Amino acid sequence: MRSRLTMRIRFKGDVICTLFLVVALLSLLYSQLEHASPVGNKEKTHKKPSGTQWIFPARSIPLRHSKAERIVAQPRIISIAKAVDELNNKGQATTSPSAIHSAFDFKHYLRNKDNRNFRLLINQPKKCHRTPGGPFLLIAIKSVVEDFDRREIVRKTWGREGLVNGAHVQRVFLLGIPKNKTALALWETLVQQESQTYRDILFWDFLDTFFNLTLKEIHFLSWAAEFCSTTKFIFKGDADVFVNVENIVDFLERHDPTEDLFVGDIIYNAHPIRVRKSKYYIPETMYGLGTYPAYAGGGGFLLSSSTMRKLAQACKEVELFPIDDVFLGMCLQRINLKPVLHEGFKTFGITKPSAAPHLQTFDPCFYKDLMVVHSLKVAEIWLMWNLLHSPWLSCTHKKQVKKPFQWKQEAILATRVSVG
Ligand SMILES: *[C@@H]1O[C@H](CO)[C@@H](O)[C@H](O)[C@H]1NC(C)=O
Ligand SMILES: *[C@@H]1O[C@H](CO)[C@@H](O)[C@H](O)[C@H]1NC(C)=O
Repeated sequence: MRSRLTMRIRFKGDVICTLFLVVALLSLLYSQLEHASPVGNKEKTHKKPSGTQWIFPARSIPLRHSKAERIVAQPRIISIAKAVDELNNKGQATTSPSAIHSAFDFKHYLRNKDNRNFRLLINQPKKCHRTPGGPFLLIAIKSVVEDFDRREIVRKTWGREGLVNGAHVQRVFLLGIPKNKTALALWETLVQQESQTYRDILFWDFLDTFFNLTLKEIHFLSWAAEFCSTTKFIFKGDADVFVNVENIVDFLERHDPTEDLFVGDIIYNAHPIRVRKSKYYIPETMYGLGTYPAYAGGGGFLLSSSTMRKLAQACKEVELFPIDDVFLGMCLQRINLKPVLHEGFKTFGITKPSAAPHLQTFDPCFYKDLMVVHSLKVAEIWLMWNLLHSPWLSCTHKKQVKKPFQWKQEAILATRVSVG
């Protein structure tokens, strides 16, 4: 009798166990499928209604919409905010399947891979000779000719040239030939004028497309090695990020520019996407291995002068690869340098409210402890920079950081009181 009972229990246990396994397998499959679903083009993923994209510390909640996010093929915990986001975007994704990809011709790319040296049409040869000993930090920002307003705001805010906490900072924008020349009729004049006015334009003779960002990477590194070898450090990033340059300078001052340093939001063990419809589809003929080398994703990364020189050389020797982040990871692997993950390239414990408009948590105190926040609108970058540099800003209690910011007179008065 007893043995029968235990057998029945055991049997029941087995059934439950099997059921559990099946469910787990199905959800894993689902998450992989969902993962491989077509992605809109870069502009689209960046111009989500949610506006600000917060970079989270936990790898398991990739709410970012960087290239990296689509490449990391680990099973994920899908948060509600993410699910809502994806629902909102499903319409877009299905109505316009990845137009870029059908146009992207791998055979053509492979055939032309050796054509990788393009002329520098606008140079700033004296960029790094303005201060004796060279700048402490060179900020290099990827931009496209059409994004004049973004460059303007970066120049006025975190991309300012001059002294930051006693360290010399210089800036360059990295541009190529706009792919749609009719979209901005006067683009050539604009680029010339900008260069004359600000002396911060590097302009190369290749088409400025998503898949040519690797060319930008290579050409920038060779430019830096040739014309800016005196800089101590480099920050390379996108124009749609907010960078806390004070924190970056503070961090870098504790490092030696003659030693290796490569720091950012590092992604480990990402798998190449083999689904044709994906924007990041990479056929096995192009990359046969199962995982990519560690690489920096998101809005930007830091490197030392020494690492810059080594990478400039290494990248010349690595075969072109259409995803620039991964390509740089391959160059790092070639020089046997392990990139370092830094928490400052994320926000600490900030949760994006799924439905609330961004301004409610647009607290400058959030930004005080971090280095790079990804994907902000032009106005948000300007506003955040001004709030952070306001004499009334007081973020003495770390605990306050978790409290949503309120646009109330009382709040402003309270900060004044605490300052006074
Ligand atoms: C280029 O831009 C113009 C003006 O915005 C637009 O009408 C045209 O369709 C664009 N062409 C392409 C190929 O995207
Ligand atoms: C990259 O730029 C070159 C030179 O302008 C161009 O011929 C090529 O089509 C571009 N490649 C891609 C993938 O956009």
